[in-house]
Amino acid sequence: MKKIVMEYNDFLSVKYDEVTRGEFKWLAPHLLEKHIKPYLKPKINVLDIGVGTGQTSEIFVNSDTNVSCIDISGDMLSVAKSKYPYKELIQYDVEDGLLKLFPEEKFDIIVAVGILEFIKDIKKTLSELKQLLKNNGVIAFTYEIFKPDNKYGIEKESPLGAGSQNIPELLSFMVYRRLSSEVDLIIKELGLTIKSRKVFTGYLRSQLKIPVPYEILVVS
Ligand SMILES: C[S@@+](CC[C@H](N)C(=O)[O-])C[C@H]1O[C@@H](n2cnc3c(N)ncnc32)[C@H](O)[C@@H]1O
Repeated sequence: MKKIVMEYNDFLSVKYDEVTRGEFKWLAPHLLEKHIKPYLKPKINVLDIGVGTGQTSEIFVNSDTNVSCIDISGDMLSVAKSKYPYKELIQYDVEDGLLKLFPEEKFDIIVAVGILEFIKDIKKTLSELKQLLKNNGVIAFTYEIFKPDNKYGIEKESPLGAGSQNIPELLSFMVYRRLSSEVDLIIKELGLTIKSRKVFTGYLRSQLKIPVPYEILVVS
Protein backbone atom coordinates (compact mmCIF):
# COMPACT_ATOMS: atom_id res chain seq x y z
CA MET A 1 0.00 0.00 0.00
CA LYS A 2 1.41 3.40 -0.96
CA LYS A 3 1.18 5.39 2.28
CA ILE A 4 1.52 8.81 0.67
CA VAL A 5 -1.34 8.21 -1.84
CA MET A 6 -3.52 6.96 1.00
CA GLU A 7 -2.70 9.93 3.24
CA TYR A 8 -3.31 12.47 0.46
CA ASN A 9 -6.70 10.98 -0.38
CA ASP A 10 -7.67 10.67 3.30
CA PHE A 11 -6.91 14.40 3.58
CA LEU A 12 -8.83 15.18 0.35
CA SER A 13 -11.91 13.09 1.20
CA VAL A 14 -13.52 15.76 3.40
CA LYS A 15 -13.65 18.40 0.67
CA TYR A 16 -13.48 16.24 -2.49
CA ASP A 17 -17.15 16.64 -3.45
CA GLU A 18 -17.16 20.38 -2.79
CA VAL A 19 -13.99 20.98 -4.84
CA THR A 20 -14.75 18.63 -7.75
CA ARG A 21 -18.30 19.93 -8.14
CA GLY A 22 -17.18 23.53 -7.70
CA GLU A 23 -14.07 25.12 -9.14
CA PHE A 24 -12.58 21.89 -10.59
CA LYS A 25 -15.77 20.93 -12.44
CA TRP A 26 -14.95 17.20 -12.60
CA LEU A 27 -17.24 16.02 -15.41
CA ALA A 28 -16.27 12.36 -15.63
CA PRO A 29 -19.03 10.87 -13.41
CA HIS A 30 -21.66 12.72 -15.47
CA LEU A 31 -20.16 11.48 -18.75
CA LEU A 32 -19.84 7.97 -17.37
CA GLU A 33 -23.60 7.89 -16.84
CA LYS A 34 -24.23 8.56 -20.55
CA HIS A 35 -21.76 5.89 -21.66
CA ILE A 36 -22.81 3.21 -19.21
CA LYS A 37 -26.61 3.51 -19.43
CA PRO A 38 -27.01 1.01 -22.31
CA TYR A 39 -25.42 -1.69 -20.11
CA LEU A 40 -27.44 -1.12 -16.93
CA LYS A 41 -29.72 -4.01 -16.02
CA PRO A 42 -31.23 -5.11 -12.70
CA LYS A 43 -29.20 -7.50 -10.50
CA ILE A 44 -25.92 -7.08 -12.35
CA ASN A 45 -22.56 -7.06 -10.52
CA VAL A 46 -20.57 -3.83 -10.72
CA LEU A 47 -17.02 -3.11 -9.55
CA ASP A 48 -15.87 0.51 -9.06
CA ILE A 49 -12.09 0.83 -8.59
CA GLY A 50 -10.83 4.11 -7.12
CA VAL A 51 -14.40 4.82 -6.03
CA GLY A 52 -13.41 7.94 -4.06
CA THR A 53 -16.47 9.54 -2.46
CA GLY A 54 -18.74 7.48 -4.71
CA GLN A 55 -19.65 10.10 -7.31
CA THR A 56 -19.42 7.44 -10.02
CA SER A 57 -21.69 5.08 -8.09
CA GLU A 58 -24.53 7.58 -7.94
CA ILE A 59 -25.65 6.40 -11.38
CA PHE A 60 -26.37 2.98 -9.89
CA VAL A 61 -28.59 4.26 -7.07
CA ASN A 62 -31.94 3.44 -8.67
CA SER A 63 -30.78 0.51 -10.77
CA ASP A 64 -31.01 -2.45 -8.35
CA THR A 65 -27.38 -3.43 -8.98
CA ASN A 66 -24.78 -4.98 -6.64
CA VAL A 67 -21.84 -2.59 -6.46
CA SER A 68 -18.48 -3.56 -4.95
CA CYS A 69 -15.86 -0.87 -4.62
CA ILE A 70 -12.17 -0.46 -3.91
CA ASP A 71 -10.13 2.51 -2.79
CA ILE A 72 -6.71 2.96 -1.22
CA SER A 73 -8.18 5.57 1.16
CA GLY A 74 -10.28 4.46 4.10
CA ASP A 75 -11.65 7.98 4.53
CA MET A 76 -12.82 8.12 0.87
CA LEU A 77 -14.58 4.79 1.44
CA SER A 78 -16.30 6.16 4.57
CA VAL A 79 -17.76 9.05 2.57
CA ALA A 80 -18.85 6.67 -0.23
CA LYS A 81 -20.48 4.36 2.32
CA SER A 82 -22.72 7.14 3.56
CA LYS A 83 -24.17 7.61 0.06
CA TYR A 84 -24.81 4.18 -1.41
CA PRO A 85 -25.57 0.66 -0.07
CA TYR A 86 -22.47 -1.03 -1.49
CA LYS A 87 -22.25 -4.80 -1.48
CA GLU A 88 -18.69 -4.43 -0.21
CA LEU A 89 -16.15 -1.64 0.32
CA ILE A 90 -12.53 -2.77 0.18
CA GLN A 91 -9.53 -0.70 1.21
CA TYR A 92 -6.83 -1.90 -1.15
CA ASP A 93 -4.04 -0.73 -3.46
CA VAL A 94 -5.05 -1.64 -7.03
CA GLU A 95 -1.36 -1.93 -7.94
CA ASP A 96 -1.06 -4.88 -5.53
CA GLY A 97 -3.07 -6.95 -8.07
CA LEU A 98 -6.82 -7.45 -8.37
CA LEU A 99 -7.13 -11.12 -9.24
CA LYS A 100 -6.32 -12.35 -5.75
CA LEU A 101 -9.06 -10.09 -4.34
CA PHE A 102 -11.74 -11.74 -6.47
CA PRO A 103 -10.73 -15.37 -7.08
CA GLU A 104 -14.33 -16.41 -7.82
CA GLU A 105 -16.36 -13.28 -8.54
CA LYS A 106 -16.90 -11.78 -12.03
CA PHE A 107 -18.53 -8.47 -13.00
CA ASP A 108 -20.92 -7.16 -15.67
CA ILE A 109 -19.63 -3.59 -15.45
CA ILE A 110 -16.25 -2.40 -14.15
CA VAL A 111 -15.69 1.31 -13.63
CA ALA A 112 -12.24 2.94 -13.31
CA VAL A 113 -12.80 6.69 -13.36
CA GLY A 114 -10.09 9.15 -12.32
CA ILE A 115 -7.71 6.46 -11.07
CA LEU A 116 -5.58 5.23 -13.98
CA GLU A 117 -3.49 8.42 -13.96
CA PHE A 118 -2.13 7.21 -10.59
CA ILE A 119 -1.35 3.68 -11.84
CA LYS A 120 2.06 3.12 -13.43
CA ASP A 121 1.32 -0.05 -15.40
CA ILE A 122 -2.19 0.35 -16.81
CA LYS A 123 -1.74 -2.56 -19.19
CA LYS A 124 -1.44 -4.87 -16.17
CA THR A 125 -4.48 -3.31 -14.46
CA LEU A 126 -6.64 -3.37 -17.62
CA SER A 127 -5.59 -6.97 -18.25
CA GLU A 128 -6.71 -7.91 -14.72
CA LEU A 129 -9.99 -6.03 -15.19
CA LYS A 130 -10.59 -7.95 -18.42
CA GLN A 131 -10.10 -11.23 -16.55
CA LEU A 132 -12.66 -10.11 -13.96
CA LEU A 133 -15.34 -9.45 -16.61
CA LYS A 134 -18.27 -11.74 -17.29
CA ASN A 135 -19.02 -12.61 -20.92
CA ASN A 136 -20.47 -9.47 -22.56
CA GLY A 137 -19.28 -7.37 -19.62
CA VAL A 138 -17.82 -3.89 -20.14
CA ILE A 139 -15.05 -1.79 -18.60
CA ALA A 140 -15.61 1.98 -18.50
CA PHE A 141 -12.44 3.93 -17.76
CA THR A 142 -10.87 7.36 -18.04
CA TYR A 143 -7.24 8.35 -18.47
CA GLU A 144 -5.45 11.69 -18.58
CA ILE A 145 -4.25 12.47 -22.11
CA PHE A 146 -0.66 13.58 -22.67
CA LYS A 147 -0.29 16.25 -25.33
CA PRO A 148 3.45 16.55 -26.20
CA ASP A 149 2.98 20.06 -27.62
CA ASN A 150 1.00 21.48 -24.67
CA LYS A 151 1.79 25.13 -23.96
CA TYR A 152 1.71 24.69 -20.17
CA GLY A 153 4.87 22.55 -19.97
CA ILE A 154 2.97 19.60 -18.50
CA GLU A 155 5.20 16.54 -18.62
CA LYS A 156 4.22 12.99 -19.42
CA GLU A 157 4.94 11.90 -15.85
CA SER A 158 5.28 14.30 -12.95
CA PRO A 159 4.56 14.57 -9.23
CA LEU A 160 1.00 15.67 -8.46
CA GLY A 161 2.32 18.93 -7.06
CA ALA A 162 4.51 19.77 -10.09
CA GLY A 163 4.49 23.51 -10.71
CA SER A 164 4.79 24.38 -7.01
CA GLN A 165 8.23 25.78 -6.11
CA ASN A 166 8.88 23.15 -3.49
CA ILE A 167 6.62 20.17 -3.95
CA PRO A 168 5.05 19.37 -0.56
CA GLU A 169 5.62 15.76 0.59
CA LEU A 170 1.87 15.06 0.41
CA LEU A 171 1.81 16.01 -3.31
CA SER A 172 4.97 14.14 -4.27
CA PHE A 173 3.46 10.98 -5.79
CA MET A 174 3.37 10.54 -9.55
CA VAL A 175 0.69 11.28 -12.14
CA TYR A 176 1.04 9.29 -15.38
CA ARG A 177 -0.35 10.78 -18.60
CA ARG A 178 -0.81 8.77 -21.79
CA LEU A 179 -0.90 9.35 -25.51
CA SER A 180 -4.18 8.19 -27.06
CA SER A 181 -2.11 5.98 -29.38
CA GLU A 182 -0.52 4.23 -26.35
CA VAL A 183 -3.93 3.45 -24.88
CA ASP A 184 -5.26 2.29 -28.25
CA LEU A 185 -2.31 -0.10 -28.57
CA ILE A 186 -2.91 -1.54 -25.07
CA ILE A 187 -6.59 -2.08 -25.90
CA LYS A 188 -5.62 -3.84 -29.13
CA GLU A 189 -2.94 -6.00 -27.48
CA LEU A 190 -5.38 -7.07 -24.76
CA GLY A 191 -7.94 -8.08 -27.41
CA LEU A 192 -10.52 -5.57 -26.15
CA THR A 193 -13.11 -3.91 -28.40
CA ILE A 194 -14.02 -0.22 -28.15
CA LYS A 195 -17.78 0.33 -27.70
CA SER A 196 -17.68 4.11 -27.18
CA ARG A 197 -15.19 6.88 -26.46
CA LYS A 198 -15.13 10.64 -25.85
CA VAL A 199 -12.40 13.21 -25.24
CA PHE A 200 -13.34 15.84 -22.66
CA THR A 201 -11.85 18.42 -20.29
CA GLY A 202 -11.57 16.52 -17.01
CA TYR A 203 -11.06 19.51 -14.75
CA LEU A 204 -9.39 22.91 -14.50
CA ARG A 205 -5.97 22.67 -12.84
CA SER A 206 -4.65 25.12 -10.22
CA GLN A 207 -5.35 28.83 -9.94
CA LEU A 208 -4.39 29.15 -13.61
CA LYS A 209 -7.42 27.01 -14.53
CA ILE A 210 -5.45 24.93 -17.04
CA PRO A 211 -7.84 22.58 -18.90
CA VAL A 212 -6.77 18.96 -18.31
CA PRO A 213 -7.61 16.66 -21.25
CA TYR A 214 -9.11 13.26 -20.53
CA GLU A 215 -10.74 10.49 -22.51
CA ILE A 216 -13.50 8.15 -21.40
CA LEU A 217 -13.71 4.74 -23.06
CA VAL A 218 -16.06 1.81 -22.79
CA VAL A 219 -14.46 -1.47 -23.89
CA SER A 220 -15.50 -5.11 -23.82
C1 LIG B 1 -9.58 11.46 -8.50
S1 LIG B 1 -10.28 10.33 -7.38
C2 LIG B 1 -11.63 9.68 -8.35
C3 LIG B 1 -12.76 9.19 -7.50
C4 LIG B 1 -14.04 8.78 -8.26
N1 LIG B 1 -13.80 7.62 -9.09
C5 LIG B 1 -14.58 9.94 -9.06
O1 LIG B 1 -14.53 9.89 -10.28
O2 LIG B 1 -15.05 10.91 -8.44
C6 LIG B 1 -9.10 8.99 -7.38
C7 LIG B 1 -9.40 7.93 -6.35
O3 LIG B 1 -8.53 6.81 -6.60
C8 LIG B 1 -7.99 6.36 -5.38
N2 LIG B 1 -6.69 5.72 -5.66
C9 LIG B 1 -5.57 6.31 -6.14
N3 LIG B 1 -4.59 5.38 -6.30
C10 LIG B 1 -5.12 4.19 -5.92
C11 LIG B 1 -4.63 2.86 -5.86
N4 LIG B 1 -3.37 2.57 -6.21
N5 LIG B 1 -5.45 1.87 -5.43
C12 LIG B 1 -6.73 2.16 -5.04
N6 LIG B 1 -7.26 3.39 -5.08
C13 LIG B 1 -6.47 4.40 -5.51
C14 LIG B 1 -7.87 7.61 -4.52
O4 LIG B 1 -7.84 7.31 -3.14
C15 LIG B 1 -9.12 8.39 -4.94
O5 LIG B 1 -10.22 8.11 -4.12
